[in-house]
Amino acid sequence: MIFIDSALGKKTPYTPIWMMRQAGRYLSEYRESRAKAGSFLDLCKNVELATEVTLQPIDILDVDAAILFSDILVVPLEMGLPLEFLAGEGPKFNQTIRSESDFKALKKDAYKNLTYVYDAVSSIRAKLSKDKALIGFCGSPWTLATYMIEGEGSKTYTHSKKMLYSNPKLLHALLESITQELVSYLGEQIRAGANAVMVFDSWASALELSAYLNFSWEYMKKIAKAIKSQYPHIPVMLFPKGVGAYLEHLDGEFDVFGVDWGTPMSLAKEKLGGKYVLQGNLEPARLYNRQAMLEGVEQILSVMNEDRGHIFNLGHGMIPDLPRENAIELVQLVREKTKR
Ligand code: CP3
Repeated sequence: MIFIDSALGKKTPYTPIWMMRQAGRYLSEYRESRAKAGSFLDLCKNVELATEVTLQPIDILDVDAAILFSDILVVPLEMGLPLEFLAGEGPKFNQTIRSESDFKALKKDAYKNLTYVYDAVSSIRAKLSKDKALIGFCGSPWTLATYMIEGEGSKTYTHSKKMLYSNPKLLHALLESITQELVSYLGEQIRAGANAVMVFDSWASALELSAYLNFSWEYMKKIAKAIKSQYPHIPVMLFPKGVGAYLEHLDGEFDVFGVDWGTPMSLAKEKLGGKYVLQGNLEPARLYNRQAMLEGVEQILSVMNEDRGHIFNLGHGMIPDLPRENAIELVQLVREKTKR
């Protein structure tokens, strides 16, 4: 698998490409499968339909890797927090973790209830072509904790930060228990057939440097180390979004560093390129306009077109109304331009 070779720093015949949120509303096929499933969570829990939507971007875009169709929030859901996805509003938990007693009420060994995810992984792996990789994933402990504490997406992270600065012990206890769940969760995904795993730290940018290192990166590293020690051949990919100013502090035992669109690739290469394979980082909105997309690709490849060390991706997820023709052309373009 060219994606896995590249993720492990080996030479490949071209630069592999996939796109974050490559399965989603910009594809009419996805919208049809989702309508069949009922709700978004029903889609995540339906092994047959989750397999179908995972494979859609492989067939339509011909990307080099599939990513399991699920959501980072199924872990807090199985830890005991009822979850809803409201149309146009995003995820919402009807219960939150704000106190010691809220924390104590969380279920232990939640990963054991996520069998619908492991079943989807083995079903996808069985149907996916042998030269394409399957990526498993989870959210970072910090990003999941913010959802559990706030109850929804947030612009200010008020309750999470209040806990961080007034009751750091409780926040650490919560982060530690999420971390334990995630190590087991990713391990089960690997045993079911995932070829690589990725940790999404979408709300990394909410924290100042010292808080970030203490309350998020530390736990990202812990997960990476645990997975690498048990599964050394499985690439571990970390995506901390919005921490371009902290790059020189971000080390650990992992293989691929996901670069978001706000961090110039040249800066990421200078600070981290010698240590990790870099993944990224086309600004997704460039796909609105073909010319803007072509220019963005040129910019990235002028920094990264080498025989190793790069996986092409967007710098964050696909936007629901991006034109699919541009996504299809992007894959072909990167493949042609990086052939060696
Ligand atoms: O194709 C893929 O990348 C795989 C599937 C995937 C989804 N969510 C499907 C999804 C992955 C890897 C995620 C991760 C995820 N989920 C993250 C981390 C990555 C990131 O974007 O920063 C986060 C923060 C979430 C939480 C989440 N899930 C939000 C905030 C939302 C609502 C926003 C939106 O786009 O509506 C979701 C819902 C969600 N997860 C959708 C999809 C395809 C849209 C649901 C729908 O209406 O069909």
